[in-house]
Amino acid sequence: MTLTTPGTGTFTEPAPSALLLLGRGADLASERGVECAGALPDPSDPALVERARAARAALGDRAFVLGHHYQRDEVIAFADVTGDSFKLAREAAARPDAEFVVFCGVHFMAESADILTTDAQQVVLPDLAAGCSMADMAAIDQVEDAWDVLVDAGVADETVPVTYMNSTAAIKAFTGRHGGTVCTSSNAQVALRWAFDRAGGVAGRGKVLFMPDQHLGRNTAVLQLGLSLADCVVYDPRKPGGGVTTQQLRDARMILWRGHCSVHGRFSARNVADVRAAVPGVTVLVHPECTHEVVTAADMVGSTEYIIKALDAAEPGSSWAIGTELNLVRRLARAHPELTVHYLDSTVCFCSTMNRIDLPHLVWALEELVAGRVPNRIVVDADDAHWARVALDQMLALPGH
Ligand code: 13P
Ligand code: SF4
Repeated sequence: MTLTTPGTGTFTEPAPSALLLLGRGADLASERGVECAGALPDPSDPALVERARAARAALGDRAFVLGHHYQRDEVIAFADVTGDSFKLAREAAARPDAEFVVFCGVHFMAESADILTTDAQQVVLPDLAAGCSMADMAAIDQVEDAWDVLVDAGVADETVPVTYMNSTAAIKAFTGRHGGTVCTSSNAQVALRWAFDRAGGVAGRGKVLFMPDQHLGRNTAVLQLGLSLADCVVYDPRKPGGGVTTQQLRDARMILWRGHCSVHGRFSARNVADVRAAVPGVTVLVHPECTHEVVTAADMVGSTEYIIKALDAAEPGSSWAIGTELNLVRRLARAHPELTVHYLDSTVCFCSTMNRIDLPHLVWALEELVAGRVPNRIVVDADDAHWARVALDQMLALPGH
């Protein structure tokens, strides 16, 4: 299709893709990039840190600032608590007295915080363009269509949906409506076991529909539950019928959504081989969003919290190569001068959407709150919030929580 926009002339609309350019268009129902509203402070303003301090102090206990491990240092400096997506959701829920929860993370995390906090609390995302490309790879309409495909194949009754925290509230709600659970990278094994038990046992014939990260689903099912790669089938929402046959769906145990993380998907088995050749005795530690070949080549695999704890407990003098987002790895390297910490990929690998939250956006959001305006409030509609909460509560009720 050809479009004309004032001042820019004529251009050809690109083919639909999972990713929209950041800052173009408005699609608040998804993780996609949206316009950033408001008059942002200049990034070169030398008073930015002072302005952030002053606004933070003026808000006092009325605000609670959460910072995900992948946030920039300049933002982490103002976080009241840091953590992975699961820990931050719990921390938000544990602060019912805070009027404002300022979420320095990405959109799906702020949605989960809104679901888990009281109606009186308001969740603010300092930049609405801070989405997640993985979460964007599963839209609720596509998920509803996929379920219809499973119904037509006669397997929906024996399938339990499990959605990764990195998904929209609408997909969490779908999961709650269909008797499934949310999981995070720290509890995926327990969540999958629970789902298979519900579907008749890991040794039975029941299935799990795992969304949206095929790698976390495959790595957990194969490496932790003992299923085989042949038990897994990949459902591609952009192909008719998911690009799989009815027989493939009937034979599969794990139906993996075709989604991935654009950051962790960049690490390769070659990176692992290269670092092993360059650094004798190195321990390779990666996040489970990495591909199966990377995870099987690595020595250890775990969530961001797991990675942090592993380095805290590491033998002084030991060498590590870490495969996760670069802001976190840099901070870990600085926090552990007694270790040698390498980045698994030689090219820069920030999460661009996490990095959308910078000091100008944080200052803007805090100053707006001080001025009595609530910017970029994230609100999940009541019905989705109810069913998403059912799926989140199911996760919280899993053994180990
Ligand atoms: P965590 O669940 O470990 O916080 O990871 C979230 C994420 O986005 C990883 O890419
Ligand atoms: Fe999403 Fe990957 Fe960024 Fe995590 S690191 S927020 S999964 S794009």
